[in-house]
Amino acid sequence: MTAVEYHPGASVPADADPRIVDFSAADLRARLDDALGVYVAAMDYPPGTARHRAPTWTEHTSRPGWRSVAALLPDADDRLDARAAPIVAIAYGYRGAPHQWWHQQVHNGMRRTGWSARETHELLGNYFEVTELHVHPHWQGRGLGERLLSRLLTGRPERAALLSTPEIADEGNRAWRLYRRFGFTDVIRRFTFAGDRRPFAILRCPLPPTHPGLWNPPRRIPR
Ligand SMILES: CC(C)(COP(=O)(O)OP(=O)(O)OC[C@H]1O[C@@H](n2cnc3c(N)ncnc32)[C@H](O)[C@@H]1OP(=O)(O)O)[C@@H](O)C(=O)NCCC(=O)NCCS
Repeated sequence: MTAVEYHPGASVPADADPRIVDFSAADLRARLDDALGVYVAAMDYPPGTARHRAPTWTEHTSRPGWRSVAALLPDADDRLDARAAPIVAIAYGYRGAPHQWWHQQVHNGMRRTGWSARETHELLGNYFEVTELHVHPHWQGRGLGERLLSRLLTGRPERAALLSTPEIADEGNRAWRLYRRFGFTDVIRRFTFAGDRRPFAILRCPLPPTHPGLWNPPRRIPR
């Protein structure tokens, strides 16, 4: 059996078959270090990043409309314990609101780039922000990100989903391919958030998503 180090010092079978589950706020708080470990591995950030992000992720769990989904590995007896199973992917988001920093940044960016006050109000008046979506590198490219995003957005009461993603030449990475496949379209391009010089795209998708090919029963992940 081949093993893969999914977390420093923790190995799991390389061919383990992840299951997608809803994660409660209590689940995420209890598993914060492991979830942040996936984030750091997926984004290839230095390990210290996790410590800085922990208070933000914790605070987000109490925001109205917060929802999270995770991909976990069952144990050898095929049991799944949300408090102990290795986490290989994590996603969460919440309902956007005017007092939130991200909302204010996007609001100002939209107005600066020609969106009218009415259009801006219409879009930002009722949306779900996809805040985090990360798959551990070993499990990337097997459809897990798509399944997580589908589950995260299923049955949401908001009119649209919004997210920000780093600009990449020719939209040439998995995140861009996933969002385009899903039907996300441009709101603002080459946007810079206050305090960060990297350019981001702000993208939106109507809810429920209308893109064909989604909303099928979860497909089996090839071993
Ligand atoms: C972006 C990210 C979340 C996408 O998740 P993912 O699981 O890797 O990707 P997807 O769910 O879109 O998988 C689709 C890929 O799997 C392949 N695939 C294999 N089996 C599949 C299946 N059963 N169903 C769907 N796709 C499958 C597809 O061909 C596709 O390959 P391609 O991207 O080379 O065209 C993930 O790659 C990631 O965490 N990246 C680093 C962090 C990051 O960029 N996060 C987002 C920041 S905004």
